[in-house]
Amino acid sequence: MKITIKKTDKPKPLPDSFSLGFGTLFTDHMFNMDYFPEKGWCNPRIEPYAPIMMDPSTMVLHYGQAVFEGLKAYRTPKGTIQLFRPKDNFKRLNRSCRLLCIPELDETFLLDALKELISIENNWVPAAPETSLYIRPTIIATDPFLGVRASNTYRYFVILSPVGAYYAAGFNPVKILVTKDHVRAVRGGVGEAKTPGNYAASLYAGARAHQAGYTQVLWLDGVEQKYIEEVGAMNIFFVIDDEIITPALNGSILHGITRDSVIALAKQWKYKISERRISIDEVMDAHNSGKLKEVFGSGTAAVISPVGELKYGDEVIAISDGKVGPIAGKFYKALTDIQYGCEKDILGWIEEVNI
Ligand SMILES: Cc1ncc(COP(=O)(O)O)c(C=O)c1O
Repeated sequence: MKITIKKTDKPKPLPDSFSLGFGTLFTDHMFNMDYFPEKGWCNPRIEPYAPIMMDPSTMVLHYGQAVFEGLKAYRTPKGTIQLFRPKDNFKRLNRSCRLLCIPELDETFLLDALKELISIENNWVPAAPETSLYIRPTIIATDPFLGVRASNTYRYFVILSPVGAYYAAGFNPVKILVTKDHVRAVRGGVGEAKTPGNYAASLYAGARAHQAGYTQVLWLDGVEQKYIEEVGAMNIFFVIDDEIITPALNGSILHGITRDSVIALAKQWKYKISERRISIDEVMDAHNSGKLKEVFGSGTAAVISPVGELKYGDEVIAISDGKVGPIAGKFYKALTDIQYGCEKDILGWIEEVNI
C-alpha cells in the first residue's frame, strides 16, 4: 500500500529537550488508516496532527472497542534514531485486536509506516539524556451505532510525543500497596489485551493507593486474590534467594516486552529465572525469613522501577533497605544501553530509522 503524505504548513516550535514531561506535547504529523469491510485496511496517510471528528454515537465512545500500543524511538550518541523491539509491539497489537474483535493488520506494513512517520518527524526525537519519542499506535471502532456488537469500521492512527527522562529526580524505589479489594483483570477476560477498559478499571484502586501515600497498586489474581499479577501498568519481578521470579502469563497479565527482555537477559547472564505462579504469602514469608532481596517492575515508560516498600493488610515491609537493588540496577543499565545504542544489540532487538 502506498502511503499518501501531506505535510503541515504550520510546523510547531520544537520543545527544549531538557524540560520535557510525559504525554503533553505532540509532533506535527500523524499516521492514519481506515478499515471498511469491503476494502479492508486502506487509505494509509501521513498528515498534519489534527483532532478526529466523530459522530457522538461512534461506538468507541460508548463501548470502548479499542486497542493501543506504547513504544519508543531513541536518539543514539551518533545522532541516529532507533526503535526497540517494534515488531513485538505490532505482534501484540494484533493479539489485542483478536481479543477485541478488531480486524488484524499487516505487521510489516505497520513497521514501515511507523519508520516513515518518524523519519518525517526526526527533529522531534530529543537528544537530552534519557529522553525519547513516545509512540502511540491506536485503533478505534468508528461505526455510528448504539447496539452492542463489534464495529464494522475502524480507524488506526499513530501519534508521537517527545518525552522527558522518567527518572529526572533520580532512580528511586517506589512504595506499593497490595490490594485485595480490587482486581485489574480476570482470566478469560481481556487482561492480556492493551485495551482502554483495563486502564479505566485500574483508576479507582490507583486513586485509593495514592490517597494512602502509595505510588501504585500491586494486583492480585481475580479468582483467588492470592497470586501476584502486575504492578500498576508494569510487569513485576521478585528476587528470592538466587531465583528471579515473574508471574507466568496466565491470560490476565499483559505480555510485556520489557518483561520478555528481562527474561532474555537473565537467561543470557545464566541467572536462575522462573516464570511461575507466585503468591503474596510466598513474598511475605520470603521477606520474614530474610530471603526477599529485590522487587522491581518492568515496562516501556520506566524500563525498570525498583520497589522499596510493600504494604499488605497491616504489614509494611521494606525491600533492599528502601534502596535500588543491584539486580534491578543491572537490568536497567543493560536495557537502556541497548535502547540508546550505547551497547551492541546482540539479541536483534533494534530497528534503525532512516533519516
Ligand atoms: C498493564 C501493563 N502491564 C505491563 C506493561 C509493560 O509492558 P511493556 O514492557 O511492553 O511496556 C504495560 C505497559 O505497556 C502495561 O500497560
